[in-house]
Amino acid sequence: MTSPQGPKIGHLVLTVRDIEASHAFYGGVLGFEQCGQFKSEMFPDIDMRFYRGSASRHHDFALVQSPDPATQPPVEPFDMFGNRVGVNHIAISYPSREAWLAKLEEIKDQQVPVYLRGNHGMTHSCYLQDPDGHGVEVLYDLPQHVWEGDVDAALSHFEFVPDEHFLEDDTNYKIFGRQS
Ligand SMILES: [Fe+2]
Repeated sequence: MTSPQGPKIGHLVLTVRDIEASHAFYGGVLGFEQCGQFKSEMFPDIDMRFYRGSASRHHDFALVQSPDPATQPPVEPFDMFGNRVGVNHIAISYPSREAWLAKLEEIKDQQVPVYLRGNHGMTHSCYLQDPDGHGVEVLYDLPQHVWEGDVDAALSHFEFVPDEHFLEDDTNYKIFGRQS
């Protein structure tokens, strides 16, 4: 079941209704840097922008302006287990617990609506929605030894964190695959 050097997801491209609104969300709220703008003589009217979280990467994702967003269905609010087919949520991993907590504080200060805050067995997470209704999971990864003993159990594990504890984070992680 394990493959030491298997494939991984490299980047993501989203076609969006309003690229300025999405730029404000992914750039402003979440902290990505715009590192490129698509330029093409063949497609001179395309507005496509590239983003990254650190300079060691060429891009993490890109946004493309839909040419005729008025013909698109209205934004459906994010619903983790809803009926809409397509991308459910995009997980954005912050490089440390401290960076993640600082981001949660910004989210609270900027009054960004939060869908859900909770802890999985392999990440501690906060779910938002982007301007097109895609879920966005803001997370930090727990150390590998926490989940590697039983990744399947860790993936289904979830503890809800109520609003009044939004900025608190318990580091007494449940270790999976060990009797306790
Ligand atoms: Fe997720």
